[in-house]
Amino acid sequence: MRLPALRKHIMINIWATLRARFGDAAPTDAGGVSPPDAWERMAKRGVVRRFRDDPLPGALIDTLCALALSSPTKSDLQQRDILIVEDTAIRARINELLADQDWIPTAPHFLVFLGNNRRQRQVHEWREKPFANDHLDAFFNASVDAGIALGAFIAAAEAAGVGCCPVSVIRDHAAEVSTLLGLPDHIFPVCGLGLGWPQRDGWTSLRLPLTHTVHRDRFNEAGLRDAVDAYDQRRHGVAPYRTQRDVDRFGTAGFYGWSEDKARQYAEPQRTDWGAFVKRKGFKLE
Ligand SMILES: Cc1cc2nc3c(=O)[nH]c(=O)nc-3n(C[C@H](O)[C@H](O)[C@H](O)COP(=O)(O)O)c2cc1C
Repeated sequence: MRLPALRKHIMINIWATLRARFGDAAPTDAGGVSPPDAWERMAKRGVVRRFRDDPLPGALIDTLCALALSSPTKSDLQQRDILIVEDTAIRARINELLADQDWIPTAPHFLVFLGNNRRQRQVHEWREKPFANDHLDAFFNASVDAGIALGAFIAAAEAAGVGCCPVSVIRDHAAEVSTLLGLPDHIFPVCGLGLGWPQRDGWTSLRLPLTHTVHRDRFNEAGLRDAVDAYDQRRHGVAPYRTQRDVDRFGTAGFYGWSEDKARQYAEPQRTDWGAFVKRKGFKLE
């Protein structure tokens, strides 16, 4: 009797959590498929930037890496690696470089997910075959592969109660990070990842409605502006922004929602040297 009751509780929670995250058009069942327990955690998940001091077992991190690298990889090419930063001097320099992210030094562990198109090129040399795909796709495939591994790592980690936060800001310092981590040509940092045992669960942030982020047969953005306005309001009702970005430049908005925040965020140039860095790594971007 106890197990079915627990299961029912979990099922109710999943749908309630998805509704809270996505709004009214969230699914209310899985077509008769019993939701696995892991779904509730996935539905609720949020990044964690506050960690307990005690480190994760090394074997746990190794297992999470293995699970992450079990994820799909384009053409079985396996063009992504994970770099675990253990050296305290390297870690200290990364913390310094990312000083504007004050939580990073408090993360017990820091990993870097790498795009790796080097191994493929080495295989061509060893097998004496031309590498006939030296164009943008080489960079793109390795980036996507690394992103898939990052997502799988986070899913596996969060399922085990480990808190994570990806760190793309590492690419603000791509050249120095690359030297620091000894990354040769055709290997590049895609994203950092801070992790450890969470002080508390991550916040379940609201997402854009599925009516406008899941498409059927043809891409459809009808009613998008109204949907974004409604999302801004819904999100504001639950978790209003405490501060506004760049008030000197844009003034104080009467209503400050997600779309205003994102527009202000990307009104500032970011990583304008990323393309040049990638080219210096040997990639052709045409
Ligand atoms: C590729 C990627 C890069 C990110 N980079 C950073 C970062 O540099 N610093 C940070 O604090 N959070 C970073 N995040 C975390 C996002 O800000 C966070 O996922 C987003 O606000 C949504 O919150 P949620 O994951 O809790 O739903 C990153 C997330 C992703 C997926």
